[in-house]
Amino acid sequence: MSNSENITEERILQALRTVIDPDLHKDVVSLGMIKNISISGNDVAFRFELTTPACPLKDHLRNAAETALRREIPEIGSIDIQMGSRVGTHVNDAKESLIPGVKNTIAVASGKGGVGKSTVAVNLAVALALDGAKVGLLDADIYGPSIPLMMGVTGQPRVIEENGTKKLVPITSHGVKVISIGFLVPPDAAMIWRGPMASGAVKQFLSDVEWGELDYLVFDLPPGTGDIQLTLVQTIPLTGAVMVTTPQDISLADAVKGIKMFEKVDVPILGIIENMSYYVCSKCGHRDEIFSHGGGRKAAEQHGIPFLGEIPLYTKLRQGGDDGTPIVIAEPDSEYAKVFLQIARNMAAQISIRHHSQGSSPEIKISL
Ligand SMILES: Nc1ncnc2c1ncn2[C@@H]1O[C@H](COP(=O)(O)OP(=O)(O)OP(=O)(O)O)[C@@H](O)[C@H]1O
Ligand SMILES: [Mg+2]
Repeated sequence: MSNSENITEERILQALRTVIDPDLHKDVVSLGMIKNISISGNDVAFRFELTTPACPLKDHLRNAAETALRREIPEIGSIDIQMGSRVGTHVNDAKESLIPGVKNTIAVASGKGGVGKSTVAVNLAVALALDGAKVGLLDADIYGPSIPLMMGVTGQPRVIEENGTKKLVPITSHGVKVISIGFLVPPDAAMIWRGPMASGAVKQFLSDVEWGELDYLVFDLPPGTGDIQLTLVQTIPLTGAVMVTTPQDISLADAVKGIKMFEKVDVPILGIIENMSYYVCSKCGHRDEIFSHGGGRKAAEQHGIPFLGEIPLYTKLRQGGDDGTPIVIAEPDSEYAKVFLQIARNMAAQISIRHHSQGSSPEIKISL
């Protein structure tokens, strides 16, 4: 029987140094993910801190850590791994002054209308929240704000006064803090807006809304790549954007225009999502590729952009949008919900990869 003194923090770290994060290409000890190691006899406990609660590699990393510990320290007893996360933040001066508590901002965009941008924005936001992230959703679509309907939000946001400043309180639905341009502007009024008016309103949504602490704030943008969209993406301090497209050529050509628009203003594209990718017959299970298939992945490859996933056509996806219950809530165990959860995790991973490649914000230490 081995002596409990054999198990030391150093041996544990040594073993865990063999576990490599496949996205960040570094070992989990160097990445600072192993915290609060405690040893009691042969039993070991520690906290495994991921870069996002929506980490697609969560189970893989936990299993890899356990395997490495059992392999390197055969006499180890129980292993208690507490999985946690600390989301990295996108450092940007404009963001700090407008929304200091918000760590990351993501625009959901499309080159053309009706491709499912709002459906994607809603389900991604709720999926991130289901994984335990703090999430907000801002409907910036002045042409047709559809988020209140899709999130089942009725009523108006409250106004509170804080140190003499009035602030709007977002309405929480399905675990997500929601604000829509539709709350403040009468229907149709926004149609005549020009870029600066839209961006002024959105800026107010950033500074005058009590967002609190958020890991991710998702923006549903108006469709297209015109002046209004360009002004908006310059106004919002964005961590990145995701492009929604359908598989056909015409929609893809528009998606490429969208990619170019974000490149022009130096906003990174986190990935492409292909919606209405295929249809599985609910009666016979036959898979039909109504709008052809795979164009989104091909466009992503051509532009060196990550492909985040494909969403099938599904009647209840539309129904869920109409009755205010996103599919990830209505049918959480369905293949359709799993598709959204995976896409949300892929997107969160892309954000972590970006933060990592840019180096985390340096900690300033002053030695006296
Ligand atoms: N995968 C899908 N399966 C079935 N219906 C879908 C799917 N994706 C979107 N829809 C439906 O298609 C319609 C358009 O989707 P949505 O409103 O999300 O698109 P959009 O790109 O935001 O449109 P707009 O440009 O008008 O803002 C909605 O009725 C929605 O419920
Ligand atoms: Mg929409």
